[in-house]
Amino acid sequence: MAVDNFEEKINPVRNKPLKVAVDESLTEKISNGINILEKEAKEAINQTLDLSQLERIRIKYLGRKGEFNNLIKELPKMSEESKAHIGRRLNSVRNDLETLIDERLHKLKDEIIEEKLRSEGVDVSMPGRGLSLGHLHPLTKVERRIEDIFQSMGFSIVMGFSIVFGPEIESEYYNFNALNIPQNHPARDMQDTFWLRQKISNLKSQISNSKNRLLLRTHTSPMQVRYMEKNNPPFRIIVPGRVYRYEATDASHEIQFHQIESLMVDKNISLANLKAVFEEFFKKFFENKKVEVRFRPGYFPFVEPGIEVDIRLGSNPKWLEVAGAGMVHPKVFEAAGYVPSDWQGFAFGMGLERLTMLCYGINDIRLFYSSDFRFLKQF
Ligand code: PHE
Repeated sequence: MAVDNFEEKINPVRNKPLKVAVDESLTEKISNGINILEKEAKEAINQTLDLSQLERIRIKYLGRKGEFNNLIKELPKMSEESKAHIGRRLNSVRNDLETLIDERLHKLKDEIIEEKLRSEGVDVSMPGRGLSLGHLHPLTKVERRIEDIFQSMGFSIVMGFSIVFGPEIESEYYNFNALNIPQNHPARDMQDTFWLRQKISNLKSQISNSKNRLLLRTHTSPMQVRYMEKNNPPFRIIVPGRVYRYEATDASHEIQFHQIESLMVDKNISLANLKAVFEEFFKKFFENKKVEVRFRPGYFPFVEPGIEVDIRLGSNPKWLEVAGAGMVHPKVFEAAGYVPSDWQGFAFGMGLERLTMLCYGINDIRLFYSSDFRFLKQF
């Protein structure tokens, strides 16, 4: 025992209390280390902005080769007492950090969902994207007004043909022959025609049968015979539609324009009926503004007598030509299969562009087809 005491005295290194002192300083170092790491890890966790960053932090501190496991390696160097103490401390810090990471994970996930909802969801309080509503072309507007007026006068509308058959493509027969404009008649020169190119193989039959030669209709009058072939009088119709002429364009001429054709057939029709219809129509069209209607002799092979219709508006001294008209020619009744002596009728063809220009004070017909927004927006 005395030797032992002696031994203890002369060899302080192997002295127990001395050994505990070394242990104590390691314990303190580790303990401090734990405190620093804990603080550092908590800050890092709270500052993470996304899930992958959080995972990196988890691995750095709590991973198998992480900072805290490094500390555990030091445990065997400690006294049993310190081991137990530091061990408990390490476990509780690890648990705290795990809980913190878990909380942060949920918070970040919530934020991601919220952000998704914000960016992908519909904010009902936002003003809607405005739908700009278009409007009808001035020619369409006026055409519909004209149709309304004639309907109110007991006329029914017959639109050419359905789109499938292309009502603007007409045969030479209905456009000319059936309207008493034979092959070499000078009246054909009045209407320069767009002919449709046709297959050579069909040419032979076309020469012998002009019903098959095709063109872009030069007027809406071909509907006169087409309608009469299928309908019996009495009737009255208007036929609005687009027509084509191969001619130089200027402020009052276009290669395409619109006409409103009319045909009224009954037993006792005369030019007086025609005049009454025109007067009534123009009164309504110009909304009771003073309108005078004048008939002048004119030449169209499919009417007899033929007339040109002029109007004069308000106090304007100028007469304006607005339509061609006349009493249906017997040859046209014949072409339609009617007995000419049984029937009388009037027909007219009115220019839609001319009326629309008068209506709105437009001075150049080419504006209608120019697709110029500055022009179109005004209607
Ligand atoms: N179709 C003629 C033209 O385009 C107008 C017209 C129609 C004349 C009906 C008389 C009768 O010029």
